[in-house]
Amino acid sequence: MLDFSNNVNFFGPPVGYKKAIRAKDFLLYPDYSQKIIREKLAKKYGVELEQVFLSVGATEALSITAKLSEGMAAGFCPTFWEYEHFYTQHHGKDNYKKFFLSHADGFEVSLDRVNSFIKLNGIKTFYINNPNNPTTTLFDKTFLLDLISSNPEVMFIVDETYLIFSPDYDQSTLSKAARGFKNLVVITSLSKIYSLPSLRLGVVISNSEYISKFKQQVIPYGVSYASQRCLEWLLEQKNFLDKTRENYFNQSKNFKRQLEGAFRSSIKIYASSAPYFLIQLLTSNGSNKKFEKLPDFLKTRGVLVRSGSEFETLDEAWVRLSIKESRANRKLINLIGSFLKE
Ligand SMILES: Cc1ncc(COP(=O)(O)O)c(C=O)c1O
Repeated sequence: MLDFSNNVNFFGPPVGYKKAIRAKDFLLYPDYSQKIIREKLAKKYGVELEQVFLSVGATEALSITAKLSEGMAAGFCPTFWEYEHFYTQHHGKDNYKKFFLSHADGFEVSLDRVNSFIKLNGIKTFYINNPNNPTTTLFDKTFLLDLISSNPEVMFIVDETYLIFSPDYDQSTLSKAARGFKNLVVITSLSKIYSLPSLRLGVVISNSEYISKFKQQVIPYGVSYASQRCLEWLLEQKNFLDKTRENYFNQSKNFKRQLEGAFRSSIKIYASSAPYFLIQLLTSNGSNKKFEKLPDFLKTRGVLVRSGSEFETLDEAWVRLSIKESRANRKLINLIGSFLKE
């Protein structure tokens, strides 16, 4: 199967990762305080030791941030499902509001609209996936810093799981800014970028008081000794992230150009530095019926994609495609071409 439905780095893990874990690492409990790995992470992200913690994937971090928050929360819609899931699990369905992103606006939003939404709904926690999954909406640093500083009573949980794929990551990440805010938490999953989801690694950066509260909530010994060891090694693979970002930048440009070249009048592409595209399939008569069948058509030919029907407010006329290497991308383009001709 060619899997265009998940966003794990198509490049694969850094070469040599198997040697980064020794058999004896599985025999040990991890250091409860994560001291060694946190020192390395703090150095890597340019933050203080007290500002960083490792979670069992970004998933555990998202669950804990929900638990630590109070009052009305919000997130954009559509977005990654876990924000609403964990928040409502802890605080009930009535305490989560959706800020709908409209494709008529290209899924873009203005600062004024978000500020008014926050005021109108009395929001106390706001989840932002940057860039947003699946719409690819990218929020620039100035926009986010303005939003965070003009709403000091709102806790902003910014998920940078896909920003780390961007060549501009070092300039765009909010990690370093987290120290100066009482109301900012930056979460990054390392599962996707290192292509090692089984290690279950999430990085949480905030001010030291928040991290101290966060630490009280984690599952003791949650991130295994083997995972912590492997991450120490991953952080030393200096060229891997640069190479990954360069590869994604080039593949994204080529894949987009090829898709536009092949289907100019029948496809609209939403793209940013995210490792996926959202595409809208257009018909001359406005009917989306035919597109319901695209995911199945591709599946029977060994290719998986995410149908828009899996995301709130989208339908089968939308597909989320992860970016892969050239040969796979070409195969998908050829198959979409065959489907549209049928
Ligand atoms: C935007 C986003 N954040 C967080 C996660 C969860 O990451 P992890 O595998 O580290 O728990 C995912 C996984 O799909 C994701 O897409």
